[in-house]
Amino acid sequence: MANEKIVLVTGANKGIGFGIAKHLGLSGWKVVITARDEQRAENAIAQLKSEGIDVLGWVNIELKDLEGIERAAKEIGERFPELTLLVNNAGIPGDMSVNSENTKLSDIRETLDVNFVGTWALTKALVPLIAQNSGRIANITVPSEISPYWHPLAYVASKAAQNALMGVMAIEFQQSNTPIEIFSVHPGPTTTDLNGNMSLPGFHDIETVGQKFAELINDGKSHQGEFIELYPIVKE
Ligand SMILES: NC(=O)c1ccc[n+]([C@@H]2O[C@H](COP(=O)([O-])OP(=O)(O)OC[C@H]3O[C@@H](n4cnc5c(N)ncnc54)[C@H](OP(=O)(O)O)[C@@H]3O)[C@@H](O)[C@H]2O)c1
Repeated sequence: MANEKIVLVTGANKGIGFGIAKHLGLSGWKVVITARDEQRAENAIAQLKSEGIDVLGWVNIELKDLEGIERAAKEIGERFPELTLLVNNAGIPGDMSVNSENTKLSDIRETLDVNFVGTWALTKALVPLIAQNSGRIANITVPSEISPYWHPLAYVASKAAQNALMGVMAIEFQQSNTPIEIFSVHPGPTTTDLNGNMSLPGFHDIETVGQKFAELINDGKSHQGEFIELYPIVKE
């Protein structure tokens, strides 16, 4: 393991990513966030710094822009060569108001492009750097198993694909002796913009989730290939 504790959290200008960046920062990690808007990034950085967090900077990543991801990965390698943890957090809900029959092709494509294709492209591009530092990759996701209570097609399909990416990479890393640990983390229902700031019983806030995630990251254990539930899905 590299000595430096540097984490890059995607989509950390708000929501769960912000909570994760904050609580990893409070536990001693140096933090890099990604955002796709300069003002939103700067606002988040100002808030993190006001909490005493060591923020190294931000990188502009739009997960729908594959060429931009390549450029961003190069920039990350140059600016943060000691990166040891990638948190793939950025994601979109897709249209959660429709059943599968009424889901639009454009929505399926966009949700897969962001949650799966973009996440895959960024992860792939950063593997050499993370391997060099014997680092870790944590994917923020939901279970692949389809819940009878909640199953928006575009979203759950994109997350199942993201979970497959984790499982495949974990096996490949082990088989090729690549010094990277990858695992998935389900934060559980969390009140954020993604769900219209829903706050039903069983929902948690980004502080609670960020803190529990930081405890997991700092637990000193191996989690290769695991699917870890911070909080379970609520039965409605
Ligand atoms: N909230 C929950 O209950 C829940 C439960 C399980 C898993 N998750 C997962 O947790 C992660 C974070 O979700 P959240 O609830 O915190 O949502 P959120 O508050 O909407 O935050 C999403 C973050 O992702 C960024 N993002 C959106 N589209 C992007 C794109 N095309 N390229 C790059 N970044 C993009 C957003 O940036 P902008 O501000 O620029 O839009 C924002 O920083 C997601 O992967 C989600 O699937 C959430």
